[in-house]
Order: sequence, then C-alpha cells, then structure tokens
Amino acid sequence: MSVSRRGFLQGLGVGRSRSAAEFMAARGHEEFVAEAMQQGNRAMGQRPTLPPGVEAIRISSNENPLGPGKSAIDAILGKFPEANRYPFNSSPLDADLEILIAKLNNGKRENVTLGVGSQEILKNAARVFLSTTKHLVIPSPTYGDPAGFAQNVMKVPVKSAPVNPKTLKTDLAALLPLVKGAGMVYICNPNNPTSTINSGQEISDFVAEVRKVSPTTAILFDEAYSDYATDKGFQSAMPLALSTPNVLVAKTFSKAYGMAGVRIGYVIASAETNRRMARWRMPYNVNTFGVAAAMASLKDAQHIKEEVARNTAVRDFTVKALADLGFQSADSQTNFIFTDIGKTMTAAAFRDACAKHGVMVGRDFPPLEKQWARISIGTMEEMQKATDVFKQVLRSTSTAAGQ
Ligand SMILES: Cc1ncc(COP(=O)(O)O)c(C=O)c1O
Repeated sequence: MSVSRRGFLQGLGVGRSRSAAEFMAARGHEEFVAEAMQQGNRAMGQRPTLPPGVEAIRISSNENPLGPGKSAIDAILGKFPEANRYPFNSSPLDADLEILIAKLNNGKRENVTLGVGSQEILKNAARVFLSTTKHLVIPSPTYGDPAGFAQNVMKVPVKSAPVNPKTLKTDLAALLPLVKGAGMVYICNPNNPTSTINSGQEISDFVAEVRKVSPTTAILFDEAYSDYATDKGFQSAMPLALSTPNVLVAKTFSKAYGMAGVRIGYVIASAETNRRMARWRMPYNVNTFGVAAAMASLKDAQHIKEEVARNTAVRDFTVKALADLGFQSADSQTNFIFTDIGKTMTAAAFRDACAKHGVMVGRDFPPLEKQWARISIGTMEEMQKATDVFKQVLRSTSTAAGQ
C-alpha cells in the first residue's frame, strides 16, 4: 500500500499530540517503520500505553538488555576527548575497522562497507539492486524495513511467499518461483519475527538455484541475529558472499554486541558490489565512538560467548515457562521468541494486557498477528517477572474463554 507523507504523519498523530521524533523516542525506529508500513490498518491510539508509575520491562525491540561489554564502553569513554575531531583525524579509523572485519571473515578490506547500523546497508542494497522493473522478493513475515523502503519510497514491486506454516521457517522452495528477473531477494537468517533459521546447506542450495534461474539477481542475507544461533546447522553466508557475485551479508553491532544506540553495522560482499554500495554511503557515516567500540568488542570474543550463553539460558527458561502454560514457540535461534498464543487471544490483546503490568512485548506481525506474539529476551530477572505476567494474562483469558 502506498502511503502519502501527510497521511502517514497524521496516522502517527503528528500535529495533534505527538511528533514523529517523539514517537521514535518512545517506541524505537523498528516500531516507527513498522507503523509506517501498517499505517492505514490501525490507528495509533490502539497502541498500549504504560500505566503511570509502572516501570517498564522492555522486551519489544530485540535489544540486548545488558548493553555493550566493558571493553566497548571503555573504548567509547576513551574517545570522548577527541569528540571535536572529524573521524579521519582520530583513531582507530573506519578503515581499521573494515580491515579487522575483513580479517576475521577471511576477506579483504574491499569486501567490507560500514553502515549506520545495518539499516543503512539494507537501504543502500535496495538502492543499488532494485528499480520499478526489478522487484524485491521476501518471505512473509520478515523484517519490514527492506520491503517498506522498496514499496513506499522506491515504488518497487514486492513479491512474497509465506513461511512454512508448521515450522515457521523461511520457505526457500516457495520463494524460488518468484526470483526470475528480481532485483534482489532478502533473506533474514535467523528470521525476524519468526526466530527460525535455514541451515547452511539449504542456503547454499538456494543461492545455486537463484544463480541458475536469475543470474543477475542479488541475494541479501541479513544476519542481524546470527550470533545468537545455537543450532549446529546454522552457518553464516559470509563465505558465499566472498565467493559469489551479488551475494551480500548484512551484520550489525545492535544485537548481541549490545550497541543499538551506537548505530554501526556492515556488509560483506564482492569488491564490485561494495563499490556500488559505497556510492550511497554518507561521508563519515560511522562515528569515532562506534568504530572504537566495534573494534574493541570484536577483539573481546569472550564477552560475546558469555552473552550468547546468557541469552540461551534465559531463552530456554522463557520457552519452557510458556510451554508449561500450554503455549508453544517456534524454534528460536535469536534473542526473541515467537509464541503461538492464538487459541487464547490475539497478539494485540496480549500486548495490551501485558502493558497494563508494565511488560512491553512486540507489535503485530501480519499475516500472523492473530496467532503469534514476539517476545524479546531480557535479563533472567526481567523474564521471571514477565512470565509471571504472561501466566496471569493468558490464564485469566483462557478461564474467561472457558466459561
Ligand atoms: C533483522 C533485522 N535487520 C536489521 C535491523 C536493523 O538493525 P540496526 O540497528 O543494525 O540498524 C533489525 C533491527 O531490529 C533487524 O531486526
């Protein structure tokens, strides 16, 4: 659906009670963009609000609840005295980070482009590969930014195929018939919001098939959550991106690295693709603090190992607590879970009921919004409190429904 700027801002209540900036400040960019895409479906007034005086447990935006590791924080603080300098007069340089990322992934500096979060990478890939005659292919549901940008800003047609209804895995076989003549296929692996993965073998077979059917079509793998994947079948598509023309992998420091507010991400692809992506990059797009923090955290592998172990333990606890109540989740390989609450209530009703207790869970994910709720993984303490709320909310409704 195309949305006029005026209609969009009106939908957000801009000019009535709150500005777009206030909206983003309150709910985050992911929700802002999602709202832009859903605008016309639902009025903003239906969003849950927190009762006064209740402290929020924010498990709605797939953030790392603990933030960056100590080495990253020290790096940011250490750079403050150089805040007056342009990034090219400071160190480390963005080139140093590109070289480090390349080295860690067996590539060369020319294979890496940095972005203001991976959102800049996703947008620039759309700018490079899509046009009104070269469509985008996506699974449904998936992370909304690429399709939102393609459809609403670039006016590019989008073709999608539903995820597997049983496993909620991206159905690569169902996407294949859509790829001929496409500008780009977007695969989020692990997928947001379903939390599932496609195995390394499935991904490399898919790439080979796409290359056969539509050799000029780019394939963008968004691996925002890959650090959290614990299934042995998961493999990053980085080696494919380094060896196959038009295969790209987007990564971010916003999730496991805990730096969503620092805004830094990157893409790995062929030198030619990077040259094309770099044309859209803003001068000095990444800042001194982000570069220093990203370098420090890449050198601190132990911190990520601990974060992944922590997330896995809390994820297991949360999945089990919901299963004990009779609600199954998809096989999560991320820092969020996707849970089937459909026999009791819609995701919107669940979200509103949880918000009354200060627990903020994820938004609607059409076309599965009637049945599935996305819950981000907070700290163990937060999830103990949150699962107590889930018990109250889901039990009270199932009792009411049974009466
Ligand atoms: C799958 C996916 N890709 C990309 C992003 C954007 O992340 P960044 O903060 O790197 O721009 C998100 C954010 O939630 C995401 O879920």
